[in-house]
Amino acid sequence: IRLLKKEGADVQVIVTPMARDFVTPLTLSTLTEKPVLTNFFDKAEGSWTSHVDLGLWADLFLLAPLSANTMAKIAGGVADNLLLTTILSARCPVYFAPAMDLDMYKHPSTSENINKLKSFGYHLIDPVEGELASGLKGVGRLEEPGAIFEILKDALTSSSVFAGKKILVTAGPTYEPVDPVRFIGNYSSGRMGIEIAMAFAEQGASVDLILGPSAIPVEHPLINVIPVTTAHEMYEQCILLFPQSEVTVMTAAVADFTPAKPAGQKIKKETQLEQIKLKPAVDILKKLGGLKQDNQVLVGFALETDDAEVNAQLKLKNKNLDLIVLNSLIDEGAGFGHSTNKVMIFTRTNKRVEFKLKSKKEVAGDILNAIKEFV
Ligand code: CTP
Repeated sequence: IRLLKKEGADVQVIVTPMARDFVTPLTLSTLTEKPVLTNFFDKAEGSWTSHVDLGLWADLFLLAPLSANTMAKIAGGVADNLLLTTILSARCPVYFAPAMDLDMYKHPSTSENINKLKSFGYHLIDPVEGELASGLKGVGRLEEPGAIFEILKDALTSSSVFAGKKILVTAGPTYEPVDPVRFIGNYSSGRMGIEIAMAFAEQGASVDLILGPSAIPVEHPLINVIPVTTAHEMYEQCILLFPQSEVTVMTAAVADFTPAKPAGQKIKKETQLEQIKLKPAVDILKKLGGLKQDNQVLVGFALETDDAEVNAQLKLKNKNLDLIVLNSLIDEGAGFGHSTNKVMIFTRTNKRVEFKLKSKKEVAGDILNAIKEFV
């Protein structure tokens, strides 16, 4: 509260009845210079607090420290105190910073509730590791006030260039059927593309995510997931959605070849199958590059093993891209199946940036920053 006030913010505190046992309303009202709210009514005065007005008044809503109990109630839409009714009426961005004991934090119901809140579009401020109220050590400690303040300040001051933009992202592998039970695929998990879609959505863009078979759940109110299986299905969806898209990012690991004639029935052992005849799959990115208008931004990925930089730059030109992201296959912890990645970015304006090994979420942030040049 002190940091926000210092920056000129107008802060209204709502405490739950239980929180009043931890911190006195007087301490909080002294800091905010206004009454702290807990109840719907003041019986003595006959006045009541409008949760709808409060929810509409705020530019940002911070739930900190968010207990397991209040989080579960928010996840379930329970509205039995002023804080809970107000959050239901809020139209502004919501940030939540859980704080609880380590085992409570690890409990599957807590993970489920966190995912539920994230699916509402609420932003999670992860708890950190440290000493907990129980005396135990572990993850569950409220993030430091200074760090929370920085996140809120960023949220309030940066209005993203991507806010309100239409974005198309492809992600995941494709499965090319050999027969009804077998396919030719690849090891892509879809994580890099999903992180990119999330990063755009968190900046207020509306995202169509064409996703090949992936085990990763995607839930964000601004992301429309279009599941596909084959390269051809991905192509059809891309052709449909590309004309409206202002920025398109093709992270999918699309098959280059597909069985020429998938068998209608399961191929039996006795057939002595020696080879599967393949035909080229459509190069979706190249097609989109040919259709691209001046006001559209097109981003490709490249996965190379030899002459990586030269080949990536060739793809940038040949496919008429604004930017290409070169994935490392050599570095440990990078590429398919990892939660980290190491990339280089080349732009049509001849920029070349090399990044270190980072989480795929951070890599997504770097890629979005690079795309800003063309938006
Ligand atoms: N891509 C695509 N359609 C394909 C194959 C690839 O749209 N049939 C896209 C990928 O989504 C990626 C980019 O093209 O953004 C580069 O993919 P990559 O596999 O590295 O290269 P290819 O173009 O397939 O070329 P090569 O296999 O010769 O390296």
